[in-house]
Amino acid sequence: MMEISSSIINDRATGEVCQVSKLYKGAELETPKAATVLVIGGGGRCHAIVDALSKSASVGKIYCAPGNAGISRQADCVPIKETQVEQLRDFALQYGVDLTVVGPEVALAAGISDVFAEAGLRIFGPSRAAATIESSKDFAKRLMAKYGIPTAAYRTFDDYGEALEYVKNGSFPVVLKYDGLAAGKGVVIPENMEDAETALKDMLLDDKFGKGKVVIEEFLTGPEFSFMCFVDGERVWPMALSQDHKRAYEGDKGPNTGGMGAYSPLPFITEDDREFAMEHIMKPTASAMLAEGCPFKGVLYGGLIKTPSGIKVIEFNCRFGDPETEVVLPLLETDIYGIFSAVADSSEMPEIRWSPEASMGFVMASKGYPGTYAKGFEIGGLEEAGNDPSISIYHMGTSSEDGKFFTSGGRVLMVVGRGDSLKTAHDKALEAVEKIHCDNLFYRKDIGWRVML
Ligand code: AMP
Ligand code: GLY
Repeated sequence: MMEISSSIINDRATGEVCQVSKLYKGAELETPKAATVLVIGGGGRCHAIVDALSKSASVGKIYCAPGNAGISRQADCVPIKETQVEQLRDFALQYGVDLTVVGPEVALAAGISDVFAEAGLRIFGPSRAAATIESSKDFAKRLMAKYGIPTAAYRTFDDYGEALEYVKNGSFPVVLKYDGLAAGKGVVIPENMEDAETALKDMLLDDKFGKGKVVIEEFLTGPEFSFMCFVDGERVWPMALSQDHKRAYEGDKGPNTGGMGAYSPLPFITEDDREFAMEHIMKPTASAMLAEGCPFKGVLYGGLIKTPSGIKVIEFNCRFGDPETEVVLPLLETDIYGIFSAVADSSEMPEIRWSPEASMGFVMASKGYPGTYAKGFEIGGLEEAGNDPSISIYHMGTSSEDGKFFTSGGRVLMVVGRGDSLKTAHDKALEAVEKIHCDNLFYRKDIGWRVML
């Protein structure tokens, strides 16, 4: 580096004709090498992260473990599972990975960030201790109670008889939450004693999700929304707000799913609401984690609800939301590698800019999801559907063979449209969805119904 600078000075001094090209050559050599990034995960959320990284001028090579067929068009997929954290570390060391970005909570709960940090590897994602904010509902509730963060009243039980007695003396509906990771199935909201008894029996007597406690919570009403923030210790940067659609069928009917669609921004959340959520929920939670000796680094996801008595926390997650990420990241105008690096290195954060556009996404799922479903159906029309710069198609569960795509999961694709209003984003996304043909997919046409009137 030093040698190059001095040769440029010499050239300047002699005023040679070749000065410009030599300067250019020097500048080129001074440019930092493009980073190699490893993204952990294999669903639509990871596809959106890979897609955002692929737009970064600072990023050269992207690996994704395990990835999926859609992701493999933008990254090299590596067949290592999210929870095989030692193998992932060895891969990162061997392949000169400069930064690892973690998608799913299972990898974080398995301690991936601790293992990578020990090996001197840069990673975007919280430690196992900080990930407890998602992996233990009881930890999250105790943290909120201690630091005055607004949430539903609750009590935690490990004894079936005592839990049952508490429910008997309360009112319905009541919220029962298994105190551990349960793949989104650990929350039951019984309307009567019989259903409450069955759920408590599953959780406390039959250990359906494993040996664990149950948090029993007051039932809150109001629209729910997702507030994801980039967090590094006490430093908190908000992302665009979004809303997920958890029920399988139109009109918010049917069983709960991993999410059937999402959109951003949210017209029913005022600037005052957002500020309240930032100042009284997200920032104090980040500070509380630091005070508790488990500083948070990564994405803190606030699952919030706007109740008649104010905004409260339903849950915290320790990672990007799925499918919220798929509608939020397309609105990010700042280079995401710079953001990930500022959090990972605790260095200066670039100014984070969001597009004023709206974004809406429809999930296409296998018929039968979230129950049992068949796989291996060919998907056609993807090229035509995606042939528009305001459309992003993220693969959630696909496989490929001979250049063709096939269904390979419950949620298969998420088709996201952007436009100058939610209505435009909705129409564009739906138009793209209709170009995709497959014999075994269904989707909700009413994504965004609360704000489309
Ligand atoms: P969680 O896994 O904690 O997000 O819960 C899953 C879903 O259950 C939430 O998205 C809510 O729709 C519902 N839920 C959880 N807690 C409450 C509560 N205290 N009051 C009303 N609904 C709740
Ligand atoms: N969309 C809810 C979640 O990511 O947990």
